[in-house]
Amino acid sequence: MGKIISVINQKGGVGKTTTAVNLAASLSALEKKVLLIDMDPQGNATSMSSIKEEENFNTIYDMMADPAVKAVYPTKLPSLKVIPCNFNLTGAEIELLEVENREFVLKETLKKLKDKFDFIVIDSPPTLNILTVNNMVASNGIIIPIQCEYFALEGLSRIMETMKSIKNLNPSVEIYGILLTMYDKRVKLTYEVENDVREHFGDLVFQTVIPRNVKLSESPSFGMPILLYDVASIGAKKYLELAEEFLERIK
Ligand SMILES: Nc1ncnc2c1ncn2[C@@H]1O[C@H](COP(=O)(O)OP(=O)(O)OP(=O)(O)O)[C@@H](O)[C@H]1O
Ligand SMILES: [Mg+2]
Repeated sequence: MGKIISVINQKGGVGKTTTAVNLAASLSALEKKVLLIDMDPQGNATSMSSIKEEENFNTIYDMMADPAVKAVYPTKLPSLKVIPCNFNLTGAEIELLEVENREFVLKETLKKLKDKFDFIVIDSPPTLNILTVNNMVASNGIIIPIQCEYFALEGLSRIMETMKSIKNLNPSVEIYGILLTMYDKRVKLTYEVENDVREHFGDLVFQTVIPRNVKLSESPSFGMPILLYDVASIGAKKYLELAEEFLERIK
């Protein structure tokens, strides 16, 4: 049975999409069958997968309305597939409020797909809204990317609080790990925040950290995960390391 992982942080620009896309690509490079789902109406994970909006283009929004809709698209990596989204997904935030069991819509949608993949990786918007709640309810576990900056710990406490209430809806949801992203060892604050986070959350924090790497920031404009854009870069190496640490962790 496949495992579903959501990448969550209500703070914007902390590396959620970069992590979702590159973890998914790295797991697929490690010969896992992976599905990436874009659940952020900004559609950044969709564009990073080179998926173009064409005629009869279906998205996760369409699938959530009707699970029979086909919206799984191939990527340049043979064992990585994508369910894209577009701005229509903002409509779902309002429409879901009218739906019975609105927190469980994505979980229902993914029921049939779950067995076809080893991993389903979901990118989330920078809020803790009903879409993010759907992601957490559908998931076996979450990964929380954080940037080593002053308010990182406060942001983490909010996610932990939200996780407590999600446990009422999905008792088995786990925290797979906290990931330090855009790590810059030349900055003193990086060490201070890292120490605080490791002290508070111990083994929950991945040993692997993702450094600030210009190749990682360039790859989206080419619509590629880092593995295809520059396999020799430190960013590519670190996301592969993360995938390996993740696989070890969930054994
Ligand atoms: N390790 C890194 N090194 C350099 N640049 C990075 C790194 N990780 C992410 N970036 C860049 O930082 C910006 C924000 O990253 P990303 O889009 O992954 O964050 P996000 O949390 O998904 O943002 P949002 O909340 O808007 O969805 C992007 O321009 C991305 O290319
Ligand atoms: Mg994003």
